[in-house]
Amino acid sequence: MAERLQKILAARGVASRRAAEELVAAGRVSVNGVPARLGDKADPACDAITLDGRPLPPEQPAHTYLLLYKPSGYITSVSDPKGRRTVLDLVRGEIPPGGRLYPVGRLDYATSGVLLLTDDGELTNALLHPGREINKTYESAVIGEVTAAKLQKLAAGVDLADGRTAPAKVRKIRREGPKSAAKTVLELTIHEGRNRQVRRMLAAVGLEVFWLKRTSFAGLKLAGLKPGEYRRLTAAELASLLQYKAVKELK
Ligand code: URA
Repeated sequence: MAERLQKILAARGVASRRAAEELVAAGRVSVNGVPARLGDKADPACDAITLDGRPLPPEQPAHTYLLLYKPSGYITSVSDPKGRRTVLDLVRGEIPPGGRLYPVGRLDYATSGVLLLTDDGELTNALLHPGREINKTYESAVIGEVTAAKLQKLAAGVDLADGRTAPAKVRKIRREGPKSAAKTVLELTIHEGRNRQVRRMLAAVGLEVFWLKRTSFAGLKLAGLKPGEYRRLTAAELASLLQYKAVKELK
C-alpha cells in the first residue's frame, strides 16, 4: 500500500515524521532512483526507497520482544511489594515512556534462564494457553546419583498435588562437583506450565535441587548471553513465535 514517505521513514525508525519530512524536502530520499519531493508516496513492498543512497533499515516490529537471561535472585514480576529486584530492573532502558513490558510466564526467584519479555498481549496469551503445549527445556543439578527408575518416573509423569504431570523428556547430561558433593545435571523438557513444576517433579521422586536453569522456551535459547544480559529477538525467532498467534483459537 502506498504511503507518504515521511510515514514510512518514521516507521523504520529513521527519524520522527517531522524530521523525515525535512529529509524528503532536502532531496535525500529517493524512490526507485528518483529523488522524491515532499508529499510523494511509495509502497515499501514494491518500491526501492533509499536515504542518502542507502536502503532503509527493515521494518520495526510494532511490539518489543526481548530475550533475557534471567539470573537467579530476581523476581519475575513487574513490581514486588517486598522490594526485591525484578526482571524489569534488567531492561529498564527498553521500556518506552508510558509504555509497558512484561514477562511471558514465570521463573522462580532462584531459577535462571530464558525469559521472554514483551508488550504483545496477544502473543503472551497464545504462548501461555495451556492447550498450546509450548516446549520448555530445563537443566537442573540435583544432589547425588539419579537412578534409572527415577528418570523413568519423571519421564512417565509424577503425581503432584494438582494432578499427574504429562510425560516429559528426561536425560542425564553430566556429573558435576567433587566426589564428596557430587551432583547430577539432568535435562527435562516439559510442555505444561504449572507453578514450580520442575522443582516439584524432582522433589516427588526424592531429588534435591541444587540449581535450576531454563535453557529453552518455545525454541528461544540462551546462546551468546550471560546472566543478566538480554537481546532483541532475531527476525527468524520472531517469525517463528508469531506463528502461535496465527494458529486458530484453542478451547
Ligand atoms: N519449574 C520450576 O520449578 N521453577 C521454575 O522457575 C520454572 C519451572
